[in-house]
Amino acid sequence: MKIKKAIFPVGGLGTRFLPATKSMPKEMLPVVDKPIIQYAVEEAAKAGIEQFIFVTSRGKSSIENHFDHSFELENNLLLKGKKETLKTAQEMLKIPGSFAYVRQQEPAGLGHAVWCARHLVGNEPVAVILADDLIKGSNTIKEMISNYSSGNMLAIMDVNNQDVSSYGIISPGKTLENNMTEILGLIEKPSIDKAPSNMAVVGRYIIEPSVFKELEKQNRGTSNEIQLTDAIANRIGKSQCYGYKFTNDRFDCGSKLGFIQANIKLSIERDDLSEKLKSWLKEEFLNGYV
Ligand code: UTP
Repeated sequence: MKIKKAIFPVGGLGTRFLPATKSMPKEMLPVVDKPIIQYAVEEAAKAGIEQFIFVTSRGKSSIENHFDHSFELENNLLLKGKKETLKTAQEMLKIPGSFAYVRQQEPAGLGHAVWCARHLVGNEPVAVILADDLIKGSNTIKEMISNYSSGNMLAIMDVNNQDVSSYGIISPGKTLENNMTEILGLIEKPSIDKAPSNMAVVGRYIIEPSVFKELEKQNRGTSNEIQLTDAIANRIGKSQCYGYKFTNDRFDCGSKLGFIQANIKLSIERDDLSEKLKSWLKEEFLNGYV
């Protein structure tokens, strides 16, 4: 089935990155030289997504500007003959009208943010991509779409015992082909004794229209927020629910550690940075700092 639309919830406060995020969106923090939201949009574009729906909030206008022309900058680069740099500044410009923005008026949770996009989605399945979850290789949502036929599909990965209380955790059923697992239940941020497994949901979803009906109920869950996982959990038994176990490295760029790890790993893979960074890291290691 072709999925044409993707929702990018970027309405959160990003409190774990204060003070950096006091007047700047978390999603604009760069990994190497690219804002994390751009990685997410590139991943969606690679998967054939045609309509990019951002759920924003107060103070997030730099995200809109990032995906727009910057005439002064582009003209300046043109006049100076900096063709390659100009290409970089223009690479994220999509077909006019393919980017849409809707405001989440209060940070009432991820489920609430997704619900805010309902009128732009209409009656069709839609991808949901959290920019904080940077997955290397940018193929995850593409792989999920190619395995999708109906119902709900969530990206999943194994986590350590001490981390289960930070994630939505699935109760797994049958293991299927193509890295898919049937999901029999879903619980948001359980304590380790209540967790049905160590398989955690990370920020890639394909949701069916009925999830919006669940979200419409505005039920509050963990942290008194409207949780996307709760709405999906309520659909289990009524429609199919699958986990897709992706294989690439994933970085939680919503946390300081994950963000720093992403910067190091992706820098090491860059031709222009790799050698110098590696030799500096080796030196630090030999000097006992690492
Ligand atoms: P997080 O749980 O990381 O919350 O949201 P947050 O507010 O962004 O960050 P912290 O925990 O305060 O540091 C996961 C994703 O859901 C979006 C966020 O923007 C992020 O992409 N989100 C969260 C919303 O769009 N609206 C919300 O009300 C909550």
